[in-house]
Amino acid sequence: MAVLLEVLVRYAHFLGILLLAGTLAIELMLFKRELDRDQIQRLARIDGVYGFAAVLTLAAGLSLWWLVGKPAEYYTRNGIFHLKLTLFVIMGLLSIRPTLFLLKHRRHDSAHCEVPKSMRMTKHVEMLLLILIPLLAALMARGFGSA
Ligand code: HEM
Repeated sequence: MAVLLEVLVRYAHFLGILLLAGTLAIELMLFKRELDRDQIQRLARIDGVYGFAAVLTLAAGLSLWWLVGKPAEYYTRNGIFHLKLTLFVIMGLLSIRPTLFLLKHRRHDSAHCEVPKSMRMTKHVEMLLLILIPLLAALMARGFGSA
């Protein structure tokens, strides 16, 4: 029973990650230099799903850490796990500004709005971090980074 629960939590972790990658890829494609009102609203909806995916990934990750699978100490003492967590937190912090930008402009009446270059750059960095994190995950799962 405990093993089945672990499998389900792992599955939820992977679903969250898939959804993160999918929504981030769509955001990267749609975040053009200039956006009209429809595009802003579409992006805001996708950004909402991206936020949900982050919460799902985090909740399943925390469960794998504290509730199911290997003992919590295995991860707590692992430097690569902490690096992975740090990158995830950086991803979350980076995503705040684009989210606020979309929420603000969603309510604007103007037909077009200019997207600052830094905003699109931020999304590229988020994608880079998302590509790096699974490598750290695979390393820590095999015992690399343990004190
Ligand atoms: C974008 C964010 C994340 C990605 C891409 C990611 C990726 C992965 C992957 C690919 C695995 C499977 C590793 C393997 O079995 O080889 C994994 C496992 C795991 N993840 Fe994450 N993860 C993310 C966020 C998190 C967070 C935020 C936490 C904790 C709060 C977390 C905790 C764990 C734990 C405890 C495992 C189990 C490792 C094991 O099998 O020993 N993950 N993650």
